[in-house]
Formats: sequence, structure tokens, C-alpha cells
Amino acid sequence: MKTIIVIGGSKGIGKALIDKLLISCRVINISRSTPEISHNHLTHHSCDVINDELPNIEQADGLVYCPGSINLKPISRLSIDDFKSDFEINVLGAVKVIQKYLPILKNGNQPSIVLFSTVAAKLGMPYHASIAVAKSGVEGLVKSLGAELAPTIRINAIAPTVTNTELASKLLRNDKMIENITERHPLKKFLNPEEVAEMAVFLLSDSCASISGQIFQMDCGIVSFKI
Ligand SMILES: NC(=O)c1ccc[n+]([C@@H]2O[C@H](COP(=O)([O-])OP(=O)(O)OC[C@H]3O[C@@H](n4cnc5c(N)ncnc54)[C@H](OP(=O)(O)O)[C@@H]3O)[C@@H](O)[C@H]2O)c1
Repeated sequence: MKTIIVIGGSKGIGKALIDKLLISCRVINISRSTPEISHNHLTHHSCDVINDELPNIEQADGLVYCPGSINLKPISRLSIDDFKSDFEINVLGAVKVIQKYLPILKNGNQPSIVLFSTVAAKLGMPYHASIAVAKSGVEGLVKSLGAELAPTIRINAIAPTVTNTELASKLLRNDKMIENITERHPLKKFLNPEEVAEMAVFLLSDSCASISGQIFQMDCGIVSFKI
């Protein structure tokens, strides 16, 4: 049975991921709040990945880093501190956990790392400057570490469009906004956390043993199609 470290399994995509992983894996969750679910194969560490020391873990075969941000403002209202905090939670937090757990992952069974980007790293959209910068950093990290850690550890990222989680709640706060977001996507939908989690489960699995250094757009067509 594999052991997967999930950073941010208390909410959103990470929460949906834990539910799926627990069917066949041991899960070690790290987040500031405790997941609602309890399970024999779930261990939780309360920790702020930016400000706290990360817990010591003895063994793991996979790592998923879920923390992120949606901080949408015109460039004139984005402060340098906004850019720094978006970069910190999206990129430096991921770097910190990868550096901490790399030694145990190297000893893991077909180890795999999964990070999260966003469609805004590929599709230019107003007010997305800070998150586009930060997630482009995530994509650069995936490319570089994919090469550096081969052939031992695979690393990939998922780049979702709007996903129905607490993080995106401001974008989906009324029926009109939900309708607008649905209509903007060529597939006439946006994402639910379970379908994004399903992709993460695949990227962690041995079925994906030949895939590393890739960014998977889960875009409901918004980046790929002009209809
Ligand atoms: N939702 C979207 O529309 C969307 C779109 C594109 C990309 N993404 C990306 O997908 C990823 C997951 O998004 P999501 O919507 O599932 O986010 P979410 O609902 O905000 O969940 C984030 C998880 O990370 C944990 N977390 C946040 N800051 C932390 C910290 N400092 N230390 C430890 N844990 C921390 C949170 O738990 P605690 O609060 O308990 O610490 C939570 O479990 C993010 O990287 C996001 O940028 C999301």
C-alpha cells in the first residue's frame, strides 16, 4: 500500500483527493485545519507550511501540494506584497515541502509529485497578473525538477480552470456569476473538485509511470478552443 503526503487535504481539491486516495493508500495530511474525515489510514499534522517547521515523516511514495491563491486585481491595485505572498504560497511553499520530503520520496515506490497551476498561466486574462506569475513559477519548477529528478521521481502539474471550492467561492457567489462562468467555457461547464482529484490520483499512480514534466490543462476548453 502506497503512502501519499497531501499538503492541503482539509478543503477543496485536496479534500476530494484524500477521499479517493483512502480507498487504496495511506494518507498523511498537512494543513492548518483538521480534515473532517477520520480513517485508520489517515494521519493529520496541523501545520502552516509557510510559517511552521514541517513534520518529520519516515516514508512516502507520493506528494501533492494543494495550497494556492486567487487574488484578482488590476495591476494598479496589486502591491508588491501581493506578488510576494502569491509567490510564497504557490511556489516557495511547494519548494519547501519538496526539499523536506525529497530524501524519503527518493526511497519510495515509483514516487510521484503533483503540483497545481492554473489556466491563467497560459490564457491571458485581465486582473490575473500576480497569480499568472506565481503559477508560471510552478510550471517552471515542474519542467526543471522533472529533468533533475528523473528517472527516480516523476513530477507533473494540473492546471485547472474555475473549480467549485472555497478558494473560488467569490467567483461563484451568485447564479448570474455561475451562469457567466459556465457560458465562457466551450464545454459549458466548470470543474468540481472530485474530477480534478481524479486526475491527481492518476498522476500519482503507476499507470502514469511514463509521464513526467507535464502540465495537464483541465480547462473545459477555455484555453484550447475558440468557438
Ligand atoms: N479552485 C479553483 O478555481 C482553482 C483554479 C485554478 C487553480 N487552482 C489551484 O488548485 C489548488 C487547490 O485549490 P483549491 O480550490 O482546492 O484550494 P482551497 O479550497 O483553498 O484548499 C487549499 C488547501 O490548502 C490548505 N492550505 C492553504 N494554505 C495553507 C498553509 N499555509 N499551510 C498549510 N495548508 C494550507 C488549506 O487548508 P487549511 O486552510 O486548513 O490550512 C486547504 O486544505 C491551488 O493550488 C489552486 O491555486 C484552483
